[in-house]
Amino acid sequence: MTDQVFLITGASRGIGAAVARRAAAAGYRLVLVGRTPGPLEALADELGGPSRALARVADVTDWAALTGVVAEVERVWSRLDVVLANAGASVVTSFLGDGGAPPEDWRDLVLTNVHGPALTARATLPALRTTKGHLLLTGSAAGRTVRPGNLYSATKWAVTGLAQAIRAECVDTGIRVTLVQPGLVDTESIPPSRVDDPKLDPDDVAAAVLYAIGQPPHVDVNEIVVRPVGQRH
Ligand SMILES: NC(=O)c1ccc[n+]([C@@H]2O[C@H](COP(=O)([O-])OP(=O)(O)OC[C@H]3O[C@@H](n4cnc5c(N)ncnc54)[C@H](OP(=O)(O)O)[C@@H]3O)[C@@H](O)[C@H]2O)c1
Repeated sequence: MTDQVFLITGASRGIGAAVARRAAAAGYRLVLVGRTPGPLEALADELGGPSRALARVADVTDWAALTGVVAEVERVWSRLDVVLANAGASVVTSFLGDGGAPPEDWRDLVLTNVHGPALTARATLPALRTTKGHLLLTGSAAGRTVRPGNLYSATKWAVTGLAQAIRAECVDTGIRVTLVQPGLVDTESIPPSRVDDPKLDPDDVAAAVLYAIGQPPHVDVNEIVVRPVGQRH
């Protein structure tokens, strides 16, 4: 067991919830962040209740809400050791045609996927500096290849750059920075056109996250790309 504290954004389902379950089994105390209280609270109960897992509602694009959560964690548990900036959204887009989500919806996609992890980093890195902790970001295999008309992919390219910029700034602090880039994962966020494609289980990604944080303190796993066998992109 460890009393280390692990904060996960987008923790209520999918990859975030799978990481929370593995981290709880490894002995971490958890801070579960998302916008919808019900599933967050159910997961916190499952993982041991308020002494082991706190459910906190915050939108990752809301600076005041994020910093409020971090301040509360430092007040209640006096430390923050690991952060996974994982909250993200996905919609189908086209630049040429009129298919996919209307442009009015694109702002939320960009804010959640780019502004969100940037704010999460800024809100948590001062605490991670104190503990020589570990920041992980959920990017995507789509953040290293190009797909026609895909704004989601462009947001994940931004996350790739963000992780590198954060690591460069933190290089003398002892903070570790890991970018996790999954291929297709079987969660609610995959588009209908890809439901029959080869997929990872969310727990496969959680295993990769626990691998990175389980390395000795002098080992900084900078990037993990994990795709299902048979994924073409
Ligand atoms: N599934 C895939 O194939 C795949 C592949 C590569 C990368 N990813 C990335 O993995 C991450 C997790 O995705 P997932 O597949 O697990 O999706 P998911 O099942 O839809 O889960 C998304 C999580 O993010 C939360 N969330 C969404 N917007 C938020 C916001 N503005 N503020 C706070 N929380 C927010 C959601 O809860 P609320 O809605 O209640 O807030 C939920 O907990 C994302 O960054 C995604 O881009 C997914």
